[in-house]
Amino acid sequence: MDILAIETSCDDTCIAIVKADRRRYQRRKTQINFNILSNIISSQTEIHKKYGGVYPSLAKREHKKNLPLVLEKALKKAKMPKIDLIAVTVGPGLDPCLWTGINFAKELAKKLDLPIIPVNHIESHILVNFIDKLPAFPAICLAVSGGHTQLILMQGFGKYKILGETRDDAAGECFDKVARILGLGYPGGPIIAKQASQCKSQIPSTKSQTNPKSQAPNIKLPRPMINQKNYDFSFSGLKTAVLYKHKDKKYLKEMCKEVQQAIIDVLIKKTIKAAKDYRVKTIILGGGVSANKELRKQFIKNCKLKIKNCNFLVPSKNLCTDNAVMTAITGYFGKPKNWQKIKADANLRIC
Ligand code: KG4
Ligand code: ZN
Repeated sequence: MDILAIETSCDDTCIAIVKADRRRYQRRKTQINFNILSNIISSQTEIHKKYGGVYPSLAKREHKKNLPLVLEKALKKAKMPKIDLIAVTVGPGLDPCLWTGINFAKELAKKLDLPIIPVNHIESHILVNFIDKLPAFPAICLAVSGGHTQLILMQGFGKYKILGETRDDAAGECFDKVARILGLGYPGGPIIAKQASQCKSQIPSTKSQTNPKSQAPNIKLPRPMINQKNYDFSFSGLKTAVLYKHKDKKYLKEMCKEVQQAIIDVLIKKTIKAAKDYRVKTIILGGGVSANKELRKQFIKNCKLKIKNCNFLVPSKNLCTDNAVMTAITGYFGKPKNWQKIKADANLRIC
C-alpha cells in the first residue's frame, strides 16, 4: 500500500510517499515494513528567522506556494507510484497552516478518488519510531517539540493516557526563547546544542561552587519540578533564570551547556519515574527536541542503567523534526474519515 502524506502544522512544508507492507511471521506475529519512497521538506526557517519565531500568516502563504512544488518533487522521487490513500496532519499546530495542508489533501483526494486519513501531529512524532519494528506495550512516550512536552502512557494503538505535560513553555520553546535572549537566532535548539558542544569547561555541580578552571561565574540553573511526585514540567522559569544569570556575555558556551543540561535532567528523571511506576516494556522518544545529541546519548545511558528489560526507541535524526514520513506511518494505523468532516484542530489532544 502506497501512502501519500502531507504535513504543514508549523513552518515546514512536507510531503512523503511511504510504501507499507504487512508481513506475518512465527504464525501469529505481524511486522509492517515501511519503505520511504520520497521524503520532501521545504523549510521556511530563512523567512521566519528575522521574527525570532514562526509568523503564521506568512507560513500559510509559503505552504500554499510550496505544496504543488513539493508534491511534484515527491512524486518524481518516488517514480510516480500508484497512491492508495492520503494522510494529512489535522492538529495540533497553527490553524492557518493546518487548513492549507488539509485543503490541499482534499483537492487531491477528490481528483484521485482516494480516502483521507486525519493524523494527530504528536501521535505521529511517537509512531515514527515504529518504522522498523513494532514495540512491546505498555510504553512511556516522551513527546518533546516546539509546542509540546508530554509524558504519555501508551497501552496499544490509539490507547493513550497523558500522565503529565508542561504547565507553561514546551522544552523546544524553552530552547528557542533562551536562544533569543542570548541573541543566537532561530530555531534555538540546534544552535544551543552546537554552542554547548563547543564548551570545554565543567559546570559546577552545586549552587555555591564556581569553576576554578574556566573562572566562569556560577551559572548553575534550576531544574524546575524535578523532585515533584508528578509527571508535569515547567520550563518558563529557566529562561528567566538565564536572563538574570547571563550578565557576563563571555560565558555564552557555558550557559548553553547548562541550559541544555537542565532541560535534559528534568526530561530524563520524569520519564524514568513514569517508566518505573508503570512498569513499561518500552520507552519512546519523539519530537524536534529528540534530535538533540546529548539528550539521545544521556537518555539511552540512563535508561539502560536504571531500568531493566526495557527497550528504548528514538527516531533517526532526520525523522525527529517535522516531516511527512511520520504522518504516513500514523496514517497507516488510522482510519479514513469522510472528507467533508475533516477539519483543522489547532489544540487537538492525543486523548
Ligand atoms: O517537532 P518540531 O520540528 O516542530 C514542532 O512540532 O514544534 O520541533 C521543533 C523544536 C524547536 O523548538 C527546535 O528548537 C527544537 O525542536 N529542536 C531542537 C533540536 N533540533 C530541533 N532542540 C534541541 N536540540 C536540537 N538539536
Ligand atoms: Zn512537530
